[in-house]
Amino acid sequence: MKEKLEEILIKVKEKLKSINDENALNNLRSLTLGKKSEISSLMANFRDLPVEDRKEYGKLINEQKQVLEELFEVKRNQILAEKLKEKLAKEEIDVTIPGAKLPLGSSHILNQVIKDFERLFIGMGYEIKDGPEVEKDLYNFEMLNLEKGHPARAMQDSFYIDLETLLRTHTSPVQARTMLKSEGKPIQIICPGKVYRRDDDDQYHSHQFMQIEGLVVGKNITMSHLKATLLEITKFFFGEDKEIRLRPSYFPFTEPSVEVDVYDGTSYIEILGAGMVHPNVLKMGGYDPNEFTGFAFGIGVERVAMLKYGIDDIRLFYTNDVRFLKQYKGGL
Ligand code: PHE
Repeated sequence: MKEKLEEILIKVKEKLKSINDENALNNLRSLTLGKKSEISSLMANFRDLPVEDRKEYGKLINEQKQVLEELFEVKRNQILAEKLKEKLAKEEIDVTIPGAKLPLGSSHILNQVIKDFERLFIGMGYEIKDGPEVEKDLYNFEMLNLEKGHPARAMQDSFYIDLETLLRTHTSPVQARTMLKSEGKPIQIICPGKVYRRDDDDQYHSHQFMQIEGLVVGKNITMSHLKATLLEITKFFFGEDKEIRLRPSYFPFTEPSVEVDVYDGTSYIEILGAGMVHPNVLKMGGYDPNEFTGFAFGIGVERVAMLKYGIDDIRLFYTNDVRFLKQYKGGL
């Protein structure tokens, strides 16, 4: 029996030498140790042995099985190591090959300008609000003191979706929406966003553009607060030495109203409209005009961007010419 076991061991060792993949190894293992293997048949002989020999016989077989299992295990590890080596050799990376260059985008110049303003206003305690671009006539006009048929509506020719719905012509509807939501509490917000007007596009006009609305409502808010804020905005964006000019103007939702011009060295250029919130607008928004006052402004984002960066055609912002956009790579 001992010889038989020896024989098996030698045979297996011999066969293992020529095996170099896992499948073949598994086959050999089940042939050697499985139900139909020689070892199993040796076990089957067990019953024929005298009782006193059985213990020793069993021990021998079990030891032998263990030795074989170890042999298979060692071989399995060898095969796996070999496989890994092959795989690594195939996947060898040449670190000296130059990498593929992916074009890197950046945020749009108009978004960069808006982010700049947001930083300024957050620093002054404002909250940033948002409003829908598809807006109700009610908020875009009526609650801003522009009832139906008001002649000033003609200044903002619009894209109508139906008689009561349009693409907002300015960010001012957010004033009305914010007042209604704030339920009589003080307000200090800005709202940047897209607005739309029916206009023939040219160097200075676009049917779509951006504004940043500002609204402050509280007790004892005066024109001097507005003026100081406008000056702050200008200095932040255009530099400490910049001067502004306030020109009397007219908006139905502010009284008095002004237009703000920045001096660019040769002439004054209009950058925003502003004014003290009209008492009717406060009333419709749920604020008692005897108790509350406020100011509002609307910055033309393209205007200030053009002025600051010397861009001479508003259409450049929207026609997505990468040669233009690439020049303003900040803001990432
Ligand atoms: N909504 C006005 C416009 O688009 C600008 C503005 C905003 C004026 C707020 C006064 C106060 O022309």
